[in-house]
Amino acid sequence: MIFRESTTEDLKSLERIYPAAFPDEDLLPVVRSLLTGSVDVLSLVAEDNGKVVGHVAFTICSVDAVYVGLLAPLCVDPAQHKQGIGSALVSEGFKRLQERAIDKVLVLGDPAYYSRFGFASERTIRAPYPMPEEWADAWQSVSLGTGLEQIEGPLIVPVVWQDPSLWG
Ligand SMILES: CC(C)(COP(=O)(O)OP(=O)(O)OC[C@H]1O[C@@H](n2cnc3c(N)ncnc32)[C@H](O)[C@@H]1OP(=O)(O)O)[C@@H](O)C(=O)NCCC(=O)NCCS
Repeated sequence: MIFRESTTEDLKSLERIYPAAFPDEDLLPVVRSLLTGSVDVLSLVAEDNGKVVGHVAFTICSVDAVYVGLLAPLCVDPAQHKQGIGSALVSEGFKRLQERAIDKVLVLGDPAYYSRFGFASERTIRAPYPMPEEWADAWQSVSLGTGLEQIEGPLIVPVVWQDPSLWG
């Protein structure tokens, strides 16, 4: 298994695995924008014997002029779930973000899954759009470094994420 930055040539594979992993949600428009647009993003694929089996993206956003990463989306080919690929993609992403001096990562996702990476409910950084109250615990963050810097304010996201339907 290798982990590498994605290229536009990976889109064909992602167009196969995203609908399989997310049968009720069409994330491909976002994925295409992340891979082909001018967004500052760390986009990694997991490749097994030449076949793309997973993907994660960390969009570089900001909070009060501090750069942070937004983890989304994360996807593993359903045929290869529970083999540690999702965890390895997230860990590899964290490592590469730290190399870019990014110390904070946010995610809107299931705490039951993301807590394993140290994510915990985020209360001082606001999501770009109001979310239903029952989703409050799904808005999470993790500090990759010392975590000493307290940042607060709205998360400023690039255009690709400026769509309320992606946030609720
Ligand atoms: C979530 C996902 C990326 C995990 O990929 P993976 O390669 O199977 O992950 P790992 O092997 O590292 O971890 C698997 C573990 O996570 C658990 N898990 C997966 N989704 C979970 C969830 N929503 N809540 C709690 N646990 C979850 C599995 O049950 C498994 O548990 P185990 O370690 O006790 O066996 C993959 O299931 C997927 O693509 N799901 C569909 C898309 C999705 O939900 N993406 C996340 C969007 S926020």
